[in-house]
Amino acid sequence: MKLANIYGFLRKDLNSIEHSLNDVIQAEHPVLRKASTQLLEAGGKRIRPIFVLLSARFGDYKNKDKDVETVAVALELIHMASLVHDDVVDNSELRRGKPTVKYIYGDRVAMYTGDYILARALETITSIDNPEVHKVLSKTLIEVVEGEISQIKDRYVLDQEIWNYLRRIKRKTALLIATSCKLGAISAGVSQYEASKLYEYGYYIGMSFQIIDDILDFTATEKELGKPTGSDLKQGHITLPVYYAMKDPAFKLKVEELFEDKENIDEVKLTEVIDYLKQTNAIEDAYELSNRYLNKALNSLNSLPENKIKRTLEIIAQVIGKRKY
Ligand code: IPE
Ligand code: IPE
Ligand code: MG
Ligand code: MG
Ligand code: MG
Repeated sequence: MKLANIYGFLRKDLNSIEHSLNDVIQAEHPVLRKASTQLLEAGGKRIRPIFVLLSARFGDYKNKDKDVETVAVALELIHMASLVHDDVVDNSELRRGKPTVKYIYGDRVAMYTGDYILARALETITSIDNPEVHKVLSKTLIEVVEGEISQIKDRYVLDQEIWNYLRRIKRKTALLIATSCKLGAISAGVSQYEASKLYEYGYYIGMSFQIIDDILDFTATEKELGKPTGSDLKQGHITLPVYYAMKDPAFKLKVEELFEDKENIDEVKLTEVIDYLKQTNAIEDAYELSNRYLNKALNSLNSLPENKIKRTLEIIAQVIGKRKY
């Protein structure tokens, strides 16, 4: 099942969010406007706004629909800003099936485009008159950046504990998804307890989401993902599949050899290492950990009322576990 078919009942809200996103990123400067609009129009799954909308539906979203939309728009913008910056750091030429801002305009413009989109997100969220929203959001942003920077330091380091990887993906991905759920809930007046359960759900979903992103970097094609594959290892990122595969000393040796000349990674060797990884149990093991997080996500929903929204969150968890894009 495609994600888009599951939440058809949100279509009206999602269309409205698309319009707002488009309005918000209009810049006077033509390059900022073009670069931001291109990324927006290239699409994307919009899962963060979807989690905002669904979480809000546990509360009084009908009377709070403007606030909920504002939060959803801000969260997607923050995500987009992080993608523009990420493509500079990861030296990536393709995003959402289109050339990246970095590729078209270079690193400097991409840096400012990311900053611009982030600034627009912050401007958008100022209309929310609730200090908790701002506190939660700023704390999340700090941790996302800490996650990204520790990832740079951890590159090419083969002897890492698994918790190090897990902390990294928590910060760089899971917290923003958890925060989408929490802020959606808070902005619609959902009780603190239920908001915290939704946060927990988002956190576990986010952990699984990034593990699968890291798996797909090995198993999917560029066409399926709309972004380059095989690039994590090339950049020296020790993601979960690599971590598991390195339990085989011969594989670890191959990775060491691959990293001997970090600036000029040998493409033939890289392909060999990736083929080797696929012959180990690493991908299966990584899926197993992802599934454990998905089950935790489902358990987090136990105490929430039985309704269509909860069932939708459950289906999304299952679909994310099988996603190929
Ligand atoms: C990509 O996020 C970056 C990660 C956190 C894995 P998405 O997979 O949500 O990207 P889009 O928005 O659909 O392009
Ligand atoms: C996602 O990590 C990190 C962000 C918070 C943007 P990746 O570097 O794996 O994301 P993709 O694979 O380029 O989308
Ligand atoms: Mg990255
Ligand atoms: Mg990247
Ligand atoms: Mg990735």
